[in-house]
Amino acid sequence: MLRFDDKVAIVTGAGRNLGREYALLLASRGAKVVVNDLGVPISDSEDVGSSSVSDPAADVVAEIVAAGGEAVANRDSVAAPEGGEAIVQTALDAWGRVDIVVNNAGQVRMGAFADFPEAHVDTLLATQLRGHLNVSRPAWRAMTKTGGGRFVNVSSGSAWGLAGGAVYGMVKMGVIGLTRSMAAEGRLERFCIRRPGSSATWRRAPTRSSSSAPRRTSRATASRSATSTARRTRARCRPATTRSS
Ligand SMILES: NC(=O)c1ccc[n+]([C@@H]2O[C@H](COP(=O)([O-])OP(=O)(O)OC[C@H]3O[C@@H](n4cnc5c(N)ncnc54)[C@H](O)[C@@H]3O)[C@@H](O)[C@H]2O)c1
Repeated sequence: MLRFDDKVAIVTGAGRNLGREYALLLASRGAKVVVNDLGVPISDSEDVGSSSVSDPAADVVAEIVAAGGEAVANRDSVAAPEGGEAIVQTALDAWGRVDIVVNNAGQVRMGAFADFPEAHVDTLLATQLRGHLNVSRPAWRAMTKTGGGRFVNVSSGSAWGLAGGAVYGMVKMGVIGLTRSMAAEGRLERFCIRRPGSSATWRRAPTRSSSSAPRRTSRATASRSATSTARRTRARCRPATTRSS
């Protein structure tokens, strides 16, 4: 069974519904979990989401602890950069690292395209798109110091077209573009990953900054470049210490 022992996970919007399930599953498999949730009304097409009405993060933390797991609550909003920083800092304060981020929080607004309120556009952009950025960037910076990590960004089938969900589909397609580009840049970052079953401590290979990377235009060329970069990375990552030495 896939286990996450000693891993630190952040799950945003984890107080209820899908996010709660992700948090409970990760905790049941050994992860230490930051349960983030602002506690807004459950979203649908109504103009809701501006005020906190409950503390669902605390409820999920209590569930995890009662089951023998480890978790801490965070109630910051993913919609602001300082909220994202605070969410990541909660993991660093509690356990000194972050290994997994599940970007799940997001408010849903549906409505006819032509008359869709600007306020709803702002809500979708802030929570569903910038929310992913606001948490992922500080988490990425923390991960570079500990050898890498994993991101799970929640999108939706609406990205492929849904009547009454044009703006929701727009931001969810944005999540896909963001995720694919994060994956591409993650390979170029040359994270050295600890090998499963090894006690070796791996040091990071010298990094070529992404700004100095050659510009590529075709997808095939970019893919070949990423593959060869990954090969070079594996070749250059060497254990700093090993069990025998
Ligand atoms: N439910 C579905 O059928 C479905 C389908 C496809 C994609 N999704 C996506 O999955 C994710 C979760 O869906 P859900 O149905 O569980 O949503 P939900 O609205 O039931 O729950 C979202 C949780 O996020 C929290 N939240 C909202 N804004 C926040 C903010 N700014 N900062 C921190 N927490 C915040 C809420 O308090 C709530 O507990 C969303 O991104 C949604 O777009 C859902």
